[in-house]
Amino acid sequence: MAKVLVAPSTLACPLVEMTDYLQVLKTANADWLHCDIMDGKFVPNKTFDDITLSLITKKTDLYIDVHLMVERPRLLLSRYIRAGAQGISIHYEAFKSRLELIDTLKIMRNLGLKVGLAIKPNTTINEVSTLLSLIDVLLIMSVEPGFGGQKFILGTLTKIMEAKRMREEKGLHYLIEVDGGINIDNARAVVGAGADVMVCGSALYKAENRIEYVAKLKG
Ligand code: DX5
Ligand code: ZN
Repeated sequence: MAKVLVAPSTLACPLVEMTDYLQVLKTANADWLHCDIMDGKFVPNKTFDDITLSLITKKTDLYIDVHLMVERPRLLLSRYIRAGAQGISIHYEAFKSRLELIDTLKIMRNLGLKVGLAIKPNTTINEVSTLLSLIDVLLIMSVEPGFGGQKFILGTLTKIMEAKRMREEKGLHYLIEVDGGINIDNARAVVGAGADVMVCGSALYKAENRIEYVAKLKG
């Protein structure tokens, strides 16, 4: 089985503990730092902005994966790049116009980002099938975005399999990243279905031994 990347999320960790947490994640050989940005409008929760993100990114050499849960992602791209984002995922559901979404994905490509498209649990792979050739990462939400600590939605496994099948059929290479409710009890099923990157928030943060927990997630 291919090696899965582990992407701990910033959401679970209070900012005052972030420096220590980043240190542990480095020792644990975590791969990406998944940075959840929420504006209180696209989702009913608010997190930190680009200024705080830039303080975080200065303290780590983990790959910076930004998950933008905001109403107008296009306007914020350059700010988050300046703050250290290497990849950004924007939400399919944040766009009323498909043309504007396509345009934004192309702008992201030109800005040198790893281009990510995030989909909520109710958005199907079919709805985004024509966009897949424009992206590097398909971020499949396995909970409703907004809060950590929710239960993994089981139907996501079928969606991951569909995303993998479609990638093969179309001869594409995007990574399948899965976000929400992942823990060591469901990680094998998530990887077995085809995930390349697993986001892990509260389960990892709460683990007694975080270094061992990352190793267990990697299998
Ligand atoms: C939820 C966020 C997730 C969150 C995952 O909207 O996008 O990245 O941090 O946290 P857990 O693993 O606790 O579900
Ligand atoms: Zn996220």
